Amino acid sequence: MLKIDFSPQQLSLLRSDHAGELGAVNIYKGILWCARDPAVVAFANCHLEVESKHLASVESLLIPKHRSTFSPLWVVAGRALGLMAVVGGKNFLFSTIASVEEFVVEHYKQQLPFFSGTVQDLLKEMMVDENTHREDAAHRSSRRHMLWEILIKKGCGLAVSASSKC
Ligand SMILES: [Fe+2]
Ligand SMILES: [Fe+2]
Repeated sequence: MLKIDFSPQQLSLLRSDHAGELGAVNIYKGILWCARDPAVVAFANCHLEVESKHLASVESLLIPKHRSTFSPLWVVAGRALGLMAVVGGKNFLFSTIASVEEFVVEHYKQQLPFFSGTVQDLLKEMMVDENTHREDAAHRSSRRHMLWEILIKKGCGLAVSASSKC
């Protein structure tokens, strides 16, 4: 655990990051629950490994009492989204991931000015990883589901605003 004194605003931003990474880990776990396609399984395993590192890094900054009280909900929502993505088929799955990762890249980009030093470096690193995920998913999707992607981003926005508050 890194000993850094965060301001209430920084704690609220980091709480939303923790919620997001928890959701991300569980989206990929949800995919792995029922995906049978070897390409999808390899894709989800590869992304899950990175998201697990992100989650561990954010957890090293944010003690449990500062994490979102809705954490169990982010786990369930992530799993459910992962499952739905598999059920919708490969294109739907990659379109789902591309939109989630697109949202996350923007989310981290907006947070950079609020941090400095090690924490800002970590956010930049995670942003680069999320962008790699976004590109990976976007390249694999031959057809994007734009209406669904708008809904996903609305949902992510709601989750960010709820987890920033508590
Ligand atoms: Fe992540
Ligand atoms: Fe990601």
